[in-house]
Amino acid sequence: MTDIVWHQHAIDQAARAGQKGQNPVLLWFTGLSGAGKSTLAGALEHALFAAGFHTYLLDGDNVRHGLCQDLGFSAEDRDENLRRVGEVAKLMVDAGLVVLSAFISPTREERDGIRAKFPHGQFIEVHVSTPIQVCEARDPKGLYLKARSGEIKDFTGISAPYEAPLAAELTIDTSKGDLATQVQALLDYLTAIQVIG
Ligand code: PPS
Repeated sequence: MTDIVWHQHAIDQAARAGQKGQNPVLLWFTGLSGAGKSTLAGALEHALFAAGFHTYLLDGDNVRHGLCQDLGFSAEDRDENLRRVGEVAKLMVDAGLVVLSAFISPTREERDGIRAKFPHGQFIEVHVSTPIQVCEARDPKGLYLKARSGEIKDFTGISAPYEAPLAAELTIDTSKGDLATQVQALLDYLTAIQVIG
């Protein structure tokens, strides 16, 4: 980009986060539709919020009502959806927040591209690895049924690809165990890496 120079402001990420007494991170939940990304991220945010942390949850369905309402589910549109979300998440981490996001984010390239925007340790990938058979049996929005009948095209896991992470920081299968235990595992991890005290 020519003729545009980065302006370094006096108040930076460390100052903003320090005032809140927290270490900003991005917790990136990836997985199939119906895997439990939003439920898990929402329950974790609730626990962090209750403990006094300043959080924000970016959710695929919600973002597609505004910021990304012009985008569909072609490979190109998903790329653009995730590019925008990655930039927004970066701004929020810069604001000092503990940011959680719940997007299918089907390709490694997209997720690794977002990881690359952050310093080492600030992007935490959580693979919600619930098997597709379980997601399809849950079918909370009736989308798998529509995908099987061909009413919805390019449906992740049915007629569009999902590439599981190769080295996610955490992997959680929501068909095993209960939500409280899964949230505790996430809190334990955040404590171990000193995001929360
Ligand atoms: S992506 O791939 O990361 O850009 O998708 P995302 O923004 O997370 O949006 C996923 C939600 O959109 C609904 N939906 C679809 N998902 C996958 N494929 C197709 N074709 C599709 N059409 C609509 C679906 O409700 C997803 O929500 P979740 O919460 O994942 O079930």
